[in-house]
Amino acid sequence: MIKKSNASLVTLVSILNDGAYHDGDTLGKKLKMTRSAVWKAIKKLETYGVNIDSVKGKGYAMQEPLILLDAAKIKQQLALNKVEVNVYEVVSSTNDCLKELKQQKGIKICLAEQQTSGRGRLGREWYSPFGRNIYLSCRYPFQKDISELAGLSLVVGLAVLRTLHHFGMDEPLVAKWPNDILYQQKKISGTLIDIQAEAHGASHAIIGIGINVNMLQDANRIMQAWTSMQNELGRYIDRNELSAELINTLLDYLTRFNQDGFQLFIEEWTEADCLTQQLITLKNLDTTFTGKVLGVNAQGNLLLECKDGTVAVFSSGDTSITKK
Ligand code: BTN
Repeated sequence: MIKKSNASLVTLVSILNDGAYHDGDTLGKKLKMTRSAVWKAIKKLETYGVNIDSVKGKGYAMQEPLILLDAAKIKQQLALNKVEVNVYEVVSSTNDCLKELKQQKGIKICLAEQQTSGRGRLGREWYSPFGRNIYLSCRYPFQKDISELAGLSLVVGLAVLRTLHHFGMDEPLVAKWPNDILYQQKKISGTLIDIQAEAHGASHAIIGIGINVNMLQDANRIMQAWTSMQNELGRYIDRNELSAELINTLLDYLTRFNQDGFQLFIEEWTEADCLTQQLITLKNLDTTFTGKVLGVNAQGNLLLECKDGTVAVFSSGDTSITKK
């Protein structure tokens, strides 16, 4: 299911964002819509889970702050103008949205207000309520063979980390191999990457990033410890500014990774990483390994010192720190 973002819905929400009551007639005039079209748009927002108070004689008021994603506002702030940015109201998954695109050239970004089948790693669900978080996918062409993309998820994690720093989130914000971003051991962001080979040693990746932004303590469906930017910073975050900053940072990191590979990022990774020197368990397919993390190698693979002293190298897996 794909629904492209609708400019009048974005404007309606921007008017209601002041928290005051607005009657249907005045809204209709401002939006050049009929009263019944305004009513339909209000109903649509309610089906997306937006709380709107409706009082006879007074009109409509929004109960909580909400700024919808606006492709024009995001594009204005981008450093590169050759990037295609599309914003949707609802998609099944932004990764799938890019996979289904017919025209498959260049860098493309897909953002959505809501995902009905948001996917996490290892077949997990990624809870994706309307209007609260970032669900962003980027299609990026590499002049590299698939075998050289092992460190990509780490590099994407570093770009997310830098973006969150920019918005004032500092320590204890860490990266956990291969691509989780945690704040006080609670997950705030994750990355899901689909890679496809192309002819002549080239490849392209669909990089899906989820960031918990303005989601407050109402997401009982998430099975692991989580937090959001608003929870930790105590203020509402404009996702247009966040999206633009994320896209600019991500594209800068991807350009450097495409040119110089993961070794350029080892130092930055080592500073951000929370696993080095820790005892961990790593689940890979059906097998569980335990050992001490020695860090990552030049490709971004995890080095795990096992109990017998051997060092095992992992390119994928799910990691957790073993409680002492
Ligand atoms: C994880 O940590 O398990 C990865 C989560 C990735 C979620 C993002 S949201 C945008 C993109 N679309 C999806 O369906 N998944 C990724």
